[in-house]
Amino acid sequence: MNYCIEKNYRNNDALRASFNRLAEKTFGLNFENWYQNGFWQDNYIPYSVVIDGDVVSNVSVNACNMNYKGKIVKLIQLGTIMTDIDHRGKGYAGALMKEVIKDYDGKADGIYLFANDSVLEFYPKFGFKEAKEYQYSKEVTISGKCKVQNIPLTNKTDFDRAAKILDTNNQNAQLYMVGNPGLYMFYLSQFMTENMFYIEECSSYAVAEMEDDTLILHTIIGNGAVDEVIRAFGSQVKKAVLCFTPKDTDGFEKSELHEEDTTFFVQGKFFEENYNEEYMMQAITHA
Ligand SMILES: CC(C)(COP(=O)(O)OP(=O)(O)OC[C@H]1O[C@@H](n2cnc3c(N)ncnc32)[C@H](O)[C@@H]1OP(=O)(O)O)[C@@H](O)C(=O)NCCC(=O)NCCS
Repeated sequence: MNYCIEKNYRNNDALRASFNRLAEKTFGLNFENWYQNGFWQDNYIPYSVVIDGDVVSNVSVNACNMNYKGKIVKLIQLGTIMTDIDHRGKGYAGALMKEVIKDYDGKADGIYLFANDSVLEFYPKFGFKEAKEYQYSKEVTISGKCKVQNIPLTNKTDFDRAAKILDTNNQNAQLYMVGNPGLYMFYLSQFMTENMFYIEECSSYAVAEMEDDTLILHTIIGNGAVDEVIRAFGSQVKKAVLCFTPKDTDGFEKSELHEEDTTFFVQGKFFEENYNEEYMMQAITHA
């Protein structure tokens, strides 16, 4: 069948609508609000097989530059990998994977993605290798009250403010994404609108959630020390689980990360050189 590959077409309303229909059908996800809020920028690039104007298969490239131990590393993360159920098994997703890998050959330090359990045999066909991630946590005893201030994320003004905070501050982590607030905002403007906090004592922000007496800390934006930020959530917190890798891991318990339907696959120089390093990709930057 005749098909063409379309890339980076976000401002084409008809193709974007078709892409959203397929994403909705495959994953129950729709990127339209994210687009309308201005967060779908040049660092989210769909590569799609289009037949008669319809997107039937897609692999999206997320340009994810990282600050890793103070140095900038150019990574790309693949996501929204899907083929319409009526068009599977025709080589479309494979053709897109090859096209992406060809386009970024020599231009990225590494490529990674998170696979669900039904496709674990798919990615090795394109040079990907399974890798481990490690998570840090600790039990805590805190005597003070909760001192964090919730930052409302209810409208575009709030979202833009949060994106600017992300874009203009360091994060207190060994590994974090830079120059891509749009990907963080995918979560913060939709599924995590109640999860951003300000901690006055250390002039830092935290993205966090409480699960019973456990603080799930997604990131610290600013230079606030991890212990200081945890303490600011008060005596309700008995355990803190970090969804990023702290600069100083002393005093934390380390465990291999096992998350349902989330297998980390990698290829490229950065991942070969750091294969035995014990880090995790921030959960709120999964594409
Ligand atoms: C995974 C998916 C994108 C594959 O799309 P597709 O267009 O049917 O794939 P292709 O026809 O290009 O297949 C390329 C190769 O991968 C193989 N393959 C396809 N789906 C596979 C799967 N689920 N597991 C293992 N191998 C698979 C094919 O047999 C083919 O192998 P070959 O080149 O040796 O003949 C599609 O099944 C899908 O949309 N699944 C649901 C969404 C999903 O789970 N996406 C992954 C998110 S991490």
